[in-house]
Amino acid sequence: MSGFSIDWLDLREPADFGARDKNLAAQLVDFLQADTEISPIVVDLGSGTGSTLRALTKLGAHRCVWRLVDHNPALLNEALRRHGQDEIVEDYEADLLDVSSLPLGGASLLSASALFDLVSGQVVDAVVARIKKQGTAFYAALNYDGRTEWTPAHALDKVVLAAFNLDQQRDKGMGPALGPESAAYLKAALEGAGYTVYTGDSPWQLGPDQQALMADLIRGIRSAVSADYGLDQQALDEWENFRLAHVTDGRCLIGHSDVLAFAHI
Ligand SMILES: C[S@@+](CC[C@H](N)C(=O)[O-])C[C@H]1O[C@@H](n2cnc3c(N)ncnc32)[C@H](O)[C@@H]1O
Repeated sequence: MSGFSIDWLDLREPADFGARDKNLAAQLVDFLQADTEISPIVVDLGSGTGSTLRALTKLGAHRCVWRLVDHNPALLNEALRRHGQDEIVEDYEADLLDVSSLPLGGASLLSASALFDLVSGQVVDAVVARIKKQGTAFYAALNYDGRTEWTPAHALDKVVLAAFNLDQQRDKGMGPALGPESAAYLKAALEGAGYTVYTGDSPWQLGPDQQALMADLIRGIRSAVSADYGLDQQALDEWENFRLAHVTDGRCLIGHSDVLAFAHI
């Protein structure tokens, strides 16, 4: 979990694609393809290199105009390099905290992947208030839900998870993060704005075929819980070594939830 580098995003993308709730995604694709006369505008927040674009086009979303919004120009350039020839891609280097300036005009859909657990409830409220005004649909995939289940088990798993879930709520530059509460918060905010909301489970189910991702995840969790939570460093070393020794034969479930919502117009 080394920040949001291209390498880290590439490493997690196959697990993300496999995890997405396919019923929700199919419902969304049907919505986007319903009118063959238009090219629906999709605004993807925190787009990175275009993971949502790749997932939805692979699942059948065509003729879309993709407005990719990210504050990292290197990720946007990579998205353009990968998709600028085959898709209509508009890149917006912007801070999503400036919600009133987001390029939402005419958008059929506001999408995001692996983003809304990083933001605050205040950002969600502001985003929902903006999309409600124009009846824009909403899709946020892969919101961490607080579940991390390891096989084989280790005596420190529960303590590490409790600290990790606290750390997930730390301010990472976008206000106190919703972390594991993000999907529930999104659902309540969208329903409060009159949306019909659908949710689906989208857990990562990692096994020996994803050793690099599991190892990165273990090191990321260790680093996240090392300070601030009063855990014994030697016990953490033992936990990390045990977990790394089992990436070849162990398994890990990381819980996520997808949220899809349509406005009543
Ligand atoms: C976990 S990554 C997810 C990227 C992509 N959606 C994916 O699934 O591969 C979070 C993304 O949000 C972007 N981001 C973080 N803070 C942001 C901010 N304040 N404004 C705009 N983008 C931001 C990062 O640059 C990164 O691309």
